Amino acid sequence: MKRSDFPEGFLFGTSTAAYQIEGAALEDGKGPSIWDDFCKIPGKIAGGDTGNVACDHYHRFESDLDIMRDLGIKNYRFSLSWPRILPYGVGAKNQKGVDFYHRLLEACHKRNIEPHVTMYHWDLPSALESRGGWTNRDTYHAFCDYADLITREFKDSVKHWMVLNEPFVFTAVGHFAGIHAPGRKGLRNFLPAAHHTTLAQAEGGRIARANAVKDAEIGTTFSCAYPTPYRDTAWNRKAVRRYDAVFNRFFLDPACGRGYPTEEMPSLKRIWKYARPGDEQKLAFDFDFIGVQNYIRDVVRFSPFQPVLWFKTIEPKKRVDRTTEMGWEIYPDSMYNLLLQFAEYPEVKKIYVTESGAAFADTLNQGRVADLERQKYLQDYMDATLRASRVSSKIQGYFVWSFMDNFEWAEGYRPRFGLVYVDYPTQERYPKDSAFMYRDFLAGQEISAEGFGD
Ligand code: FCB
Repeated sequence: MKRSDFPEGFLFGTSTAAYQIEGAALEDGKGPSIWDDFCKIPGKIAGGDTGNVACDHYHRFESDLDIMRDLGIKNYRFSLSWPRILPYGVGAKNQKGVDFYHRLLEACHKRNIEPHVTMYHWDLPSALESRGGWTNRDTYHAFCDYADLITREFKDSVKHWMVLNEPFVFTAVGHFAGIHAPGRKGLRNFLPAAHHTTLAQAEGGRIARANAVKDAEIGTTFSCAYPTPYRDTAWNRKAVRRYDAVFNRFFLDPACGRGYPTEEMPSLKRIWKYARPGDEQKLAFDFDFIGVQNYIRDVVRFSPFQPVLWFKTIEPKKRVDRTTEMGWEIYPDSMYNLLLQFAEYPEVKKIYVTESGAAFADTLNQGRVADLERQKYLQDYMDATLRASRVSSKIQGYFVWSFMDNFEWAEGYRPRFGLVYVDYPTQERYPKDSAFMYRDFLAGQEISAEGFGD
């Protein structure tokens, strides 16, 4: 595979998120976020890890961007920390936080790296959480004010905006399952959080469109998982449709003007209980692109005993030999199928894969990380993206998750997703063999995982 196999203008980049890399948790006036708080609760994060220091990117962004430049990576997706900019979520801005992002953006441009900025990657200011967080409609209004502020403030240096990162994950895992911050549980938290998030998603798009430069593109990202039926029966196929409605389409369909997919998921119709008159008309926005992020294929089976969902999934460990460190199945066709599923939406104009990557047990050996499995994984997922792009010209970009190893939420620092290895005790960076493979690919060379780097 080589770069020229992809359509002309196809974007390649890499992604990170503020809480996962920045550290400097309470420095220079930053307010706490729900992740700062969640990390303090014993038992919530593997190993008791926190994002207090993370990759210390707040202090090391210049040298991190040097590495990115040296690897030839020209597109960088990262997020802004809302509580760094607005320590209380609303009100007066923290000038030092704003200045940090000006410096970061300038540092990107100086190196010819195009910034792709996510407005919200899960780190809600704690002050808003203490008033109900996303379950409170006020948070949607606060988000709009924040979106207005940042799209004005950074308009001269940002041409690519993404409103949200994976709304399904932060609402479901954070407000239904309680495994992510803020640790809320149940439908009574999930449904209002989901509705306010859907409003914020569309309104954030409208605000960005109004404030950003003319040729800016405005998008938002979605977590997508590929379901296949456990034995091909009518009930299991119905379970697959339900899975798709809730895991993939619950936020995407309303953004596209199709409303919540409650036909397949009648148990979620109660979401309307949290709506106000006129909300239905506010859920859609004509995004320039959507970001698809796929890590998972699930085998789904009908189950009348499963509350709300009526289906369950069969753990990868019980059905496949090899998974990533996260226990996720390696199944590149899930990327292919999901990309084409959403390319078929007439409302979707363009698709970028805004995250794709894998955690493996990397070892640093005399400065080298020979991560053959990741090289293979990336090639297979890039190939799936390439195949999909041959079917639909809407597919126009691929970003590797992640630029460097970082704080993987409830899993702490153990899973390493980076192209660049971070030795946390010393904060030294070591580009892995996969980073060199990506570099060579970007430079136009033919790549093959076998023995790369030897
Ligand atoms: C996605 C998140 C990202 C990262 C990857 C592994 O769900 O958007 O922050 O944690 O998973």
